[in-house]
Amino acid sequence: MDLLGKLFLTRGDTVMVARPTYLGALQAFNGYEPTYLDMPETGLADGLDAATLDRAKGCLGYFVPDFANPTGQSLTLDEREALLDLAGDLDMTLIEDAAYRELRFSGEALPTLLSLDIARSGGIEAARTLFCGTFSKTLSPALRIGWVCGPRAVIEKLVLLKQGADLHVSTINQMVAHRAVIEGFDQHLGMLRGAYGANARVMLAALERHMPAGVTWSKPHGGMFVWVWLPEGLDGKVVLERALAEERVAFVPGEPFFAEVPTANALRLSYSLPTDAQIEDGVARLARLIGRMG
Ligand SMILES: Cc1ncc(COP(=O)(O)O)c(C=O)c1O
Repeated sequence: MDLLGKLFLTRGDTVMVARPTYLGALQAFNGYEPTYLDMPETGLADGLDAATLDRAKGCLGYFVPDFANPTGQSLTLDEREALLDLAGDLDMTLIEDAAYRELRFSGEALPTLLSLDIARSGGIEAARTLFCGTFSKTLSPALRIGWVCGPRAVIEKLVLLKQGADLHVSTINQMVAHRAVIEGFDQHLGMLRGAYGANARVMLAALERHMPAGVTWSKPHGGMFVWVWLPEGLDGKVVLERALAEERVAFVPGEPFFAEVPTANALRLSYSLPTDAQIEDGVARLARLIGRMG
């Protein structure tokens, strides 16, 4: 993301993002001092007035179409097509962050933005989408290995920027990743999908059982996160302080995930690591606190 920011952004440029969006991408882009334009993840073609559309001409778009961080939600096929329509109208370069794409545990896979783009434009050289993959969610974040698929001219510039930044990704790490991928990677992915799917089901059932009225949440088909909307007036940061002190439960408050207009009444839960018993107990304690605060 940093290299893409370096390549595409100068101070005051516009980046269009979902609302909410991945905090780490915002942190990477922030160094280049862009302004942000929040887009709802649904109704992509609607709701933008003429002045906003004008501001968005030629902007950079950053989206996580599959099991987004922080919401766990995905763009439907129609939303993917609408995003590509909009990108065409605005002459927007699209970054497709596919960090969680391989972690689907229910439903059918949807085509990537890049593949839909290629089907429209006739080939990768004419595409406007840069597909970003990573081993961070499937093998290990410590490997620090990711990749970008896109038109050759963009990739050549990214290679130069990568060389300028740190010459290259650690060769030992690349050898480890290569070995892991050729020796049973599909089986490993199957194990991850099974484990995360089971954890997600436990968390969704616990939320259903314990949360008070007025609290709603996303229903992910993959990835690691459930996004929780709190009743209007509750602030996720305040809930976190009290949750740590009174219930010994931790989560990520929602506000830092909003690029343009901050929204406080949300939080992100992760089900990737805890046991079933910890999920059940943690959600019950959090629900108890929210009930007291509501
Ligand atoms: C949407 C998204 N993209 C990228 C990353 C990080 O990927 P990497 O470790 O390859 O930088 C994360 C990790 O939290 C993420 O949620």
